[in-house]
Amino acid sequence: MIFRKNRLLPVLLLIAVTLSACNRVTGTETPIQPPEISVTETATPEVLPPSDPVEALLAQMTLAEKIGQMTQVEQYSLKAGDSDKYFIGSVISGGGSVPTTADTREWAETFVPPAAPQTRLGIPILYAVDAIHGIGALYGATVFPQPIGLGAGNHPELMRQIGQATAEEMRAIGISWNFAPIVAVPQDIRWGRTYESYSEDTQRVVALSTAFIQGLQSLPKDFVAAEGQSLYTLATPKHYLGDGGTAFGTSTQNIFKPYLIDQGDTQLTEAEMREYFLPAYQAAVETGAMSIMVSFSSWNGTKMHAQSYWINDVLKGELGFEGFVVSDWGGIDQISENYYEAVVTAINAGVDMNMVPYDYVKFINAMERGVMKGDITLERIDDAVRRILNVKYQLGLFGDTQSNLGSLDDIGSEAHRALARQAVRESLVLLKNENSALPIAKDADSIIVAGIAANDMGIQCGGWTTEWQGETGDVQPGTTILEAIRAAVSPATTVTYSQDGQFEGTAEIGIAVVGETPYAEGVGDASDLSLSDKDLQVITNLREHSQKLIVILISGRPLVITEQFPLADAWVAAWLPGTEGAGVADGLFGDYPFSGTLPYTWPRSKDQLPLNTHTVEGLTGCAAPLFPFGYGLGVGSSQPAEWLNCPSNMD
Ligand code: BGC
Ligand code: BGC
Repeated sequence: MIFRKNRLLPVLLLIAVTLSACNRVTGTETPIQPPEISVTETATPEVLPPSDPVEALLAQMTLAEKIGQMTQVEQYSLKAGDSDKYFIGSVISGGGSVPTTADTREWAETFVPPAAPQTRLGIPILYAVDAIHGIGALYGATVFPQPIGLGAGNHPELMRQIGQATAEEMRAIGISWNFAPIVAVPQDIRWGRTYESYSEDTQRVVALSTAFIQGLQSLPKDFVAAEGQSLYTLATPKHYLGDGGTAFGTSTQNIFKPYLIDQGDTQLTEAEMREYFLPAYQAAVETGAMSIMVSFSSWNGTKMHAQSYWINDVLKGELGFEGFVVSDWGGIDQISENYYEAVVTAINAGVDMNMVPYDYVKFINAMERGVMKGDITLERIDDAVRRILNVKYQLGLFGDTQSNLGSLDDIGSEAHRALARQAVRESLVLLKNENSALPIAKDADSIIVAGIAANDMGIQCGGWTTEWQGETGDVQPGTTILEAIRAAVSPATTVTYSQDGQFEGTAEIGIAVVGETPYAEGVGDASDLSLSDKDLQVITNLREHSQKLIVILISGRPLVITEQFPLADAWVAAWLPGTEGAGVADGLFGDYPFSGTLPYTWPRSKDQLPLNTHTVEGLTGCAAPLFPFGYGLGVGSSQPAEWLNCPSNMD
């Protein structure tokens, strides 16, 4: 379909595009000289097209077609007919942006991949979604634990399987591109993206993210690949570079509150950048990652989208990255108030595709102008497009995409849910266990469960579920923690649910499920990580009415629980487990041992923050964290003796 013999057509189209580009530039901008592009732009008639299909295609493409490849548009802002008119290369469904929330078939059949573009060259569109814990946006998808829980589980082989299962669900709706994994190495848990990241520890991030990338990208056994296909789906390690190191209070993003850290400034030396953050990219490149997303954040005052040194020299040069670099959502716009300058700077810094996401015509105009003024060379554009087309080939998108679609039966399948349940139980970190509170006997007389998080699917899934920010309530089919407890106990056991923990009499076991409500990105930035008054009340109420009290924390990061800690006999950090709450019950009732270990250092108070393996050195006694990185009872850790002696812990 794509290799036309007519070599005159590109020349004609080029002239047409050039003229139309000139027309589109507004009168307020400086006059533009005709571009010196015709020589390199077209293959001369006597030269045979290169045998490499990507080179052959590139040789036929007009400037407009090439710029289109570099343009990614949010699906709901793409006007009818425009993807063909502007030769759009990629489409994204942002957080919560689904065609019709519950209709997977519509997503698969109508939207993806705007299957056969009606363009001259028919170059397929690459469709992207943020499937950071399964396709959270898709109703009925398997929602795996958020990365923080997988970081606690620290099980690379399981990560590979989760990557593959996620890819299967993506392929079922025809989506080939996943904006995951986040390989940030957060150094400050006040950052709202802590839960999207595996760990504060570089090595843990490397081990888990590379396994996940393998799962997303490797062709499964027995898979019938399309022509040229070597990638199952495309992973995107993000956000390059230093997103987890931004200093508190340096955020430049003021649209949503609080944005204290997110999109801020990473004030570290180059050596520290290389030590903390670069290894995950090096490992990802070695594992075969073919797209990498740039970070909104800055490095010592300059936006990463403008950092030619880090993108061109280090990533593409030193690390030998051969895939393409995508901007973050409107990230280029943040470089300068002058949009044209921002675009030129980012493209020359090495950004190959712009996640625009809305005003694609403005971007396309700026690109054309950049070429005409000689601010962006055609070599740079060819390099970007070559990288993008290569990946499209490797994804098999030029093959028969319809027959290449996965099966809708994979979405939320039993096998995937079983995998998610395993991931949940492995993610549980046992922080405290006294008076043999755990495991709970399945034939206990009476159990009282309390707290809003005990029976709320939206809360246990967290952000990037249904909506960008996530939401409370019945957002996805699955098992809540309360339902899982009810399903685990003997028929003789009474399980009572009381949202606020008020109860007549005394139960043998009280289980308080408390923590955070959903958020995403900078909206989740916070300076105070203590439990809400409501949750504190739940714990105190339940303490009065239960012989043994167990607290389960549902949260996207360690919370400050020092004062409440003595109140309960047992504490379990369950993070944001996703749809399979049964995995929590697997741990509580002793069907499986607790095996999770802390992926982040746990602070004793908010005044200790930022606290991480780098800042913790030398802190002892009551100045030490409540729990160190890697802590977890049941796997060799024992209760740190010191916390008991600290004044703030005496009730
Ligand atoms: C998110 C998108 C989301 C959008 C909403 C972005 O920052 O990443 O996925 O839909 O904001 O404005
Ligand atoms: C986020 C990215 C995400 C993109 C698309 C941005 O706001 O920073 O992580 O991939 O939106 O949703």
